[in-house]
Amino acid sequence: MSNKIAVLGSINVDTTYHVERFPQPGETISALSKSSAAGGKGANQAVAAVRSGAKTYFIGKVGDDNEGQFMLESLKGEGIDTTCIRVDKGHGTGTAAITLDANGQNDIMVYGGANQALTIDDLTGTASVFDDIDFLISQFETPQVVTAAAFKEAKEHDVTTILNPAPAKTIHPDLLKYTDVITPNETESALISGIELTDEDSMVKTAQFFADHGVRYTLITLGSKGVFYSTPKDHGLVPAFKVKAVDTTAAGDTFIGATASQLDKNLDNVEEALVYGQRASSLTVQQMGAMPSIPTGDQVKAALNRD
Ligand code: ATP
Ligand code: RIB
Repeated sequence: MSNKIAVLGSINVDTTYHVERFPQPGETISALSKSSAAGGKGANQAVAAVRSGAKTYFIGKVGDDNEGQFMLESLKGEGIDTTCIRVDKGHGTGTAAITLDANGQNDIMVYGGANQALTIDDLTGTASVFDDIDFLISQFETPQVVTAAAFKEAKEHDVTTILNPAPAKTIHPDLLKYTDVITPNETESALISGIELTDEDSMVKTAQFFADHGVRYTLITLGSKGVFYSTPKDHGLVPAFKVKAVDTTAAGDTFIGATASQLDKNLDNVEEALVYGQRASSLTVQQMGAMPSIPTGDQVKAALNRD
């Protein structure tokens, strides 16, 4: 049986500027080319989950504009349940301006727009979703106060909560106590815990910090180095797959959505699920763009079978 997942989060339209190198502050440079694609951390995570076979719901907000219509149609076209996506009259749909250099490095500037207008009132009418799901995933591109309320409700419905604290921000004090699994990258981890990640010992200390705040499972993504995981039983580092990255946009999002699609409800198979998630991300980084680069379950399985 496939996992049932809701993603509460952001929906953006991404514009990527392809450049030879990043401009210096105050400098103007020419972009070699420009492309546009569906994105947003929440939307990417939902697409990663549904493409890997999870029944997927989305809770979020778009503007009353062409971008919002485009994103609603894109998510519906993926088979995601969009009935809990609200349309906001006062704000435009979220957008992101991405600069991508010749080495595959990126810089991202996000306009939150309708994502930031999501309120706790927008959770009204989502009870049937909470009744149905096994996992709720959220990030930091929508207000944390809404995520905290949704995570609290999730815990009342025996739903496992996964927090991707991205982009890096300080954390709402209530959020960790309702979080079961946290998935920061190195920067986000250091900002929240105050512990710089220099070696395995510092990762173990970070996991202990999260455990002391009620988070039982820590998965720290380390880019091309892989993922450090810590569970109540075990910890370790699972290396990433060796591939040539051309655009890492949505690598973390793919990892989270794809991993969640494979997790047992009791979280007994974290190590196995994160190998799948990393295989999915390794395919994402070999393609341009956010959503267009996210693989299907069949593509991930084919890659795993080739290994
Ligand atoms: P982003 O913000 O770019 O989506 P992130 O910072 O949230 O990414 P990362 O830690 O960079 O997340 O990447 C998530 C996972 O994607 C890694 O744990 C790894 O499995 C995979 N990955 C990322 N970059 C590479 C790479 N260059 N080669 C292989 N796998 C990669
Ligand atoms: O994680 C990648 C995403 O971050 C992009 O799709 C962009 O929209 C920003 O939200």
